[in-house]
Amino acid sequence: MDRKPLVVGNWKMHGTRKEARELLEGIKARLGGLREVEVGVAPPFTALETTAEVLADDQIKVASQNVHYASSGAFTGEVSPGMLKELGVDYAIVGHSERRSLFWESDEMINRKVRAALGAGLGVILCVGETLDEREAGRTWQKVSFQVKSGLEGVDAQEMQGVVIAYEPVWAIGTGRTATPAQAQSVHADLRALLVELYGHEVAQRTRLIYGGSVKPDNAAELMREPDIDGALVGGASLKADSFDAIVLASRP
Ligand code: PGA
Repeated sequence: MDRKPLVVGNWKMHGTRKEARELLEGIKARLGGLREVEVGVAPPFTALETTAEVLADDQIKVASQNVHYASSGAFTGEVSPGMLKELGVDYAIVGHSERRSLFWESDEMINRKVRAALGAGLGVILCVGETLDEREAGRTWQKVSFQVKSGLEGVDAQEMQGVVIAYEPVWAIGTGRTATPAQAQSVHADLRALLVELYGHEVAQRTRLIYGGSVKPDNAAELMREPDIDGALVGGASLKADSFDAIVLASRP
């Protein structure tokens, strides 16, 4: 089964609306017409509306970096799935390691977010990944499989159509230290096998498993050549149109 590669730029807390517009114009000019790769950008909440406007006539997708699980209520500082949907957001990133570690998001909370986002018709990019200590202690798969199973609890095969899993080893995020293609492929293959167990062969073959953690123009192609790596979640290198463009082009099938 063909899986269309997905490359999403996670801008993190970078970009005023003005800066977002400039970067988006650069990305649009280079990638607006590309059909072989699904491209997305995840700006800060404050630039989402601008982003949706600039990309209105384009194939490029809009993602949020977070989402709350409730549809409304007394949750100061939070943003609901429906509010994002209204802005034209296509995907919500859920469970990024920075959310887990800096903002104490639990697996239970992440699962609630996944289900709420899917329920509102948003796609979900569920992030999972082990720390360096866990890898060195041989607990990579224990950690990653637990995060996937708990993140997807209560999500059925039909809803899996809206789910992308991003494997992002914590030790590779923002460090310049990428997982080798073999290390990443090994976890992705295990993830695919886990999806077979949970949802059967068809869902497992259809679901995109993307890699994140110091993806750069010079390492993207070798990562993307691996059979179970279906794209990338890109942090630092997504903040410049030319490096993001190079990664997207390297992800073409
Ligand atoms: P990085 O970030 O590409 O800067 O390592 C990836 C991510 O956090 O999604």
